[in-house]
Amino acid sequence: MEATIVPGEQKHYPVLLKEIISIISPQYGGTFIDCTFGQGGYSKKILEFENTKVIALDRDEDSKVKANEIKDKFEDRFIFKNIKFSQLNNLKLKNENIKGVIFDLGYSYIQIKDPKKGLSFNSSGPLNMKMGINSFSAEDAVNKLDEKELEKIFKFFGEDKESKFIARNIVKERIKNNIDTQLLVEIIEKTKRKKNFKVHSSTKVFQALRIFVNKEISELISGLINATKVLKKDGILVIVTFHSLEDKIVKYFLKSLSEKKSISRYVPLTDQSETLFNLAQKKAIIPSEKELKENLPSRSAKLRYVIKKKNFYDFETDIFDQFKHLIEIENFGDKL
Ligand SMILES: C[S@@+](CC[C@H](N)C(=O)[O-])C[C@H]1O[C@@H](n2cnc3c(N)ncnc32)[C@H](O)[C@@H]1O
Repeated sequence: MEATIVPGEQKHYPVLLKEIISIISPQYGGTFIDCTFGQGGYSKKILEFENTKVIALDRDEDSKVKANEIKDKFEDRFIFKNIKFSQLNNLKLKNENIKGVIFDLGYSYIQIKDPKKGLSFNSSGPLNMKMGINSFSAEDAVNKLDEKELEKIFKFFGEDKESKFIARNIVKERIKNNIDTQLLVEIIEKTKRKKNFKVHSSTKVFQALRIFVNKEISELISGLINATKVLKKDGILVIVTFHSLEDKIVKYFLKSLSEKKSISRYVPLTDQSETLFNLAQKKAIIPSEKELKENLPSRSAKLRYVIKKKNFYDFETDIFDQFKHLIEIENFGDKL
């Protein structure tokens, strides 16, 4: 997510924190997995309740600093791993009763403001966008991919209506110059025929490149599948999304496993009407007026959650098929 500045200090504002705490009920204790540790807003709050344990993950090495501070305070109850959440099935969790798995997707305020990460079109740093544990940067992508591939990235990951022309002008320009952040912004500005005065011209292309560089689509899908596997009966899966593409994937996954249809061909027919999840609330939860006043960028946040109905770990899902066209675009990165 793109969090805002808290007056007087550079701080990340944990989005929908009150709502998440009321959903996962840490006052009853238990182990929780915070898949997107960030600045530790959620982890810290959960650990304030006795008898809780938090296993936190983040792909960004820089988040270790905050993690070490929390470790000093809650030594026995806090574990941090610098891994991607798609790898959460590699954690040794046999004896843990995982009560909740939480995802707060996107970026922290600290990451957006870090020039060396180059996540923003306002950044003075390199055209990087690597969040951590990546194989190529945004600069590699815009300078090396084919015009058609760039167009698809901007169109499907950024929903930019002028994708075709932006891709064309990038390819023309890079014959003469290497494309960096500033040049990319200039190309987009010059290309855009339809100006939108509320949204910066580069917003969509930058979003698209961040999704592409960090393989956010396959990360999210694998994260959701693996989170579902580690949850026990009554365990809760909570996801906060920040753009429509993420929300579409999350909504599909949660809904498809909450509706009456077979969860696996290996389950006897008599059980096949059972669903894996209970979709506790159909509509997404959004920030309160109060939160919006304190943290305007939370306006795009949507929270969805489900409760696992049974101890069942080998379920089937067609989610990769559903979003195959997006995974194919992500795979353009394999040659970089
Ligand atoms: C919006 S921030 C989380 C903020 C956190 N809830 C807090 O209150 O401080 C998202 C974090 O998730 C991390 N992240 C994003 N995708 C990830 C992935 N696939 N695996 C692990 N961490 C990821 C980012 O590096 C970032 O630190």
